[in-house]
Amino acid sequence: MLSDNQSAPVRTQPSQLRDRFGRIMKKLRISLTDRCNFRCVYCMPESPVWGPRDVVLSLEELHHLASVFVARFGVEQIRLTGGEPLLRSGAPRFVSMLHGLRAHGLRRVSLSTNGALLARYARELADSGLDGVNVSLDSLSPDRFHQVTGGGDLREVLRGIDSAREAGLPVKLNAVVMRGTNDTEIPALAAWAYRAGIPLRFIEFMPLDSRGLWSADKVFTEREIVALLERDFEIEPLARTEEPASYYLLNGHFRLGVISTISNPFCARCDRVRLTADGRLFACLFSPTGVDLKSAIRPTVNSELLESRMEAAIRNKSPGFVESSASMDRGTVGMHVLGG
Ligand code: 5AD
Ligand code: SF4
Repeated sequence: MLSDNQSAPVRTQPSQLRDRFGRIMKKLRISLTDRCNFRCVYCMPESPVWGPRDVVLSLEELHHLASVFVARFGVEQIRLTGGEPLLRSGAPRFVSMLHGLRAHGLRRVSLSTNGALLARYARELADSGLDGVNVSLDSLSPDRFHQVTGGGDLREVLRGIDSAREAGLPVKLNAVVMRGTNDTEIPALAAWAYRAGIPLRFIEFMPLDSRGLWSADKVFTEREIVALLERDFEIEPLARTEEPASYYLLNGHFRLGVISTISNPFCARCDRVRLTADGRLFACLFSPTGVDLKSAIRPTVNSELLESRMEAAIRNKSPGFVESSASMDRGTVGMHVLGG
């Protein structure tokens, strides 16, 4: 357990996590658990083996790491991920704990969820000061949804989305597109989000699934997505921003995003790092290994060691997808461990 004076690093001079290519890390994704109640085909193995519980960092330990990222290294945004982050007990409490870091420069705390437990937790999350939720919605057909998510209940997720909006939590939708699986639903998903007024991003299928299903021909590209949508909407491309998605304006007012990691990678402007629930820091989604931060804070905090490991991990951040794509076999570190 960390003592109070250890949980807020007292350094007055924040520096930045800058890599060899001049990219500065501003966003941290914290996976609260590798466990998930879904088995999405693009993510999970059919029979996942969960990591042992004793290596999972406590919320206090995760908070300590978050506080170093924010107060010492100038990270401005934190997103909670999983597995399914709402399976971690105390997830809303953790959102409240992070609140204190706003005084040190944290500007935004958000959460990515599959939505199954959102109806239950939306109010509590909103009360904890969460700034927004991203919900995965890959299909609007109950059967296909069930198939893609390995058992997920579409109605439950739609209820979760409603509850979040009722609680005043801004919602965004993410849909991973796989050729031959849900590409035919692109127009329906866009029309649904358009009508509901909920921002939607399509995501190209990335070679990070644990089942080895990925192949280049299953990637339904940004260009193909846009071509499909042009049949139903007037589409105007918007100037690229600091965000990973390219944005398009549909019928003059609805902003739709496409994250095209494969056909048009964002890597050159990447400003994010990922922390796993067991305390490994991954500077890139495509990194084969993480840097162990746990042993720098457990059983006692060694701030110097911790900071030097964080800096080293970022210094060695890979240039990104294109360059590292030849060696994608990362064994067991799937998206459910890294948090998407
Ligand atoms: N390709 C693209 N996105 C993925 N995600 C998980 N696995 C993949 C993959 N292979 C993303 C999805 C999901 C989030 C948790 O991670 O957006 O909603
Ligand atoms: Fe679970 Fe998310 Fe992976 Fe789906 S994508 S299995 S919801 S962690």
